[in-house]
Amino acid sequence: MAQPLDIASLNGEFLPLAEARISPLDRGFLFGDAIYEVIPVYAGVPHLLDAHIARLERSLAAIDIPLPHDAGAWRHLVTELIRRNDGGAMAIYIQVSRGAETGRDHVYATDTRPTVFAMATELQPHDYSDGVSAITLPDERWARCDIKATALLANVLARQKAAAAGAVDAILIDGDEVTEGAVSSVILVEQQTLVRRPHGNEVLPGTTTDHVIALAREAGYACREELIPVQRMLAADEVWLTGATKGIAPVVRIDGSPVGTGRPGPVWTAVNRLYEAAAS
Ligand SMILES: Cc1ncc(COP(=O)(O)O)c(C=O)c1O
Repeated sequence: MAQPLDIASLNGEFLPLAEARISPLDRGFLFGDAIYEVIPVYAGVPHLLDAHIARLERSLAAIDIPLPHDAGAWRHLVTELIRRNDGGAMAIYIQVSRGAETGRDHVYATDTRPTVFAMATELQPHDYSDGVSAITLPDERWARCDIKATALLANVLARQKAAAAGAVDAILIDGDEVTEGAVSSVILVEQQTLVRRPHGNEVLPGTTTDHVIALAREAGYACREELIPVQRMLAADEVWLTGATKGIAPVVRIDGSPVGTGRPGPVWTAVNRLYEAAAS
C-alpha cells in the first residue's frame, strides 16, 4: 500500500495529514458525492499536470459542483504540496466533494462550499521486466465511468478479486467488449499497431493512455480506436495496462493464459522507453 506523506491540504490550509478533520455530514462520506484526481510526480515535477487539471474540472462540471479554484490555484496547490513534502517522487491525490450540509438529503443545495482535500503519497517504483498478470471480470459499474468519481465500490471489489488472484488488475468486460481495467486503461498491440477503445461514457479518459498514444504516434506506430471484443484482446500480440502511478504495465498472462509470447513485447519495450524518458 502506498503510504501517505506528512503534509496534506484541507480547504486551502496545509497541515499534517493526521490533523485533517472532515465532517461526517460531508456528502463525499455520505453519498460518494465527490470526484478525485491522482497526479504522479517525478523528481519534484508533476507529470501531465495540465491534463489532470482539465479532467478534474471536467469531472466537477459533470456532477454540477462549482469550480472551487481556477487552474492557477490547482497548480499552486500541487506544487506547494510537493514542496512541503520535500519533492522527489510521489503521487498527489486531490478529492473535491460537494461539501457538508446541515443534514442528509439526496437533494443538494447549490451554494454548499465544496470540500477540497489533497495529500501526497509515496510513488513506488515498478519492476515490469517479467510482465504482470491480469484477470477478466464482468464490468458491473455505473453508466458514467468517464467521470472520475470517488464512488468506486465496483472497482474496489474487482481490484480486490484481482489481488486475491495475484493479478495487478481486473480487465472489465461489458457484454463481449473490453472497457478498461478496474484502475487502468487497456491498450492492445496487433502487428505493431496500437488499439484502444475510444473515449466515451463507458471508460475514464486516461491521461496516461492519451500520452502513450501520442508518444507512439510520434515514434511512427499506427494507433487505432476501436471497440475490442474480449477474444480479440486474448489473441493480441501485446496487452498493456496504463495509469498515472502504474506507467505502462505489460500484461503477460490473462486468466492464467499467456498473452503473445508470454513475455513483455518489443513494442512495449520501445514505447515504455519513450514514456520513461518523458517522465524523468
Ligand atoms: C478506472 C480507471 N481507468 C483508467 C485509469 C487510468 O487513468 P490515468 O492514466 O489518468 O491514471 C484509472 C486510473 O486510476 C482508472 O481508475
